[in-house]
Amino acid sequence: MAEPGIDAVQQIRRWHIYASTDELENYAAGAVRRAAKQAIEAYGGFNLVLAGGNTPRGVYARLAAAPSDWGHWHIYFGDERCRPQGDAARNDRMAREAWLGRVPIPPAQIRSIPAEMGAVEAARRYAQILAPLEQFDLVLLGIGADGHTASLFPGRSLDGAEVLAVLDAPKPPPERVSLSAARLSRARQVMFVVSGEAKRGAIAAWRRGDSIPAAAVAPPAGVDILLDVSAWPECCV
Ligand code: 6PG
Repeated sequence: MAEPGIDAVQQIRRWHIYASTDELENYAAGAVRRAAKQAIEAYGGFNLVLAGGNTPRGVYARLAAAPSDWGHWHIYFGDERCRPQGDAARNDRMAREAWLGRVPIPPAQIRSIPAEMGAVEAARRYAQILAPLEQFDLVLLGIGADGHTASLFPGRSLDGAEVLAVLDAPKPPPERVSLSAARLSRARQVMFVVSGEAKRGAIAAWRRGDSIPAAAVAPPAGVDILLDVSAWPECCV
């Protein structure tokens, strides 16, 4: 039986396995740069959604290390924890420390989720910020051991609004803001970056076809799942 809120979306999945975390991060950073170059050449801008958690830190550090046409990058966040601005638990703080604070992307083009306002008000405001943007160029996502992505958790609604107020997240802090599965799916490209043995169970469930929240992100072009071999379950070797 499908989890509440997960309709039978047909997610097209492409698996990319790397021998080390280093290779995974190098490839992921290169893929982001390629997507940026393509979008900027095509229409002069690049709309990128950042993943939270710890996994993307190395990818972001690699992006900071190489020059790019930063003036044309527009940064959004897939989710945010409802903690004060600058709090160590905030996803935007991690991104700023690893990358955004080290490159000259115009501050007005880095659109944090105002999660310090509380989940309900922040979700309302972020939906307004996103309203003019029909689709993202690239969405980066992670996955939790339970199959969650962004702040879309098993057994909870994944849609119903563009931006969701999450009040009971099982991963602390409980109060968060998350783009919905449908909003995350309105993208030219969606790329999951997954590392570590702790994610093997979620990857195995995903490959079995379980209706985990990560499986609800279904952009027309499908999703690319980049993972290191430590995250690849025995069932699939
Ligand atoms: C969050 C993240 C969340 C994260 C996964 C994986 O705010 O917690 O958005 O979805 O991507 O939990 O986290 P790690 O990369 O730290 O394993």
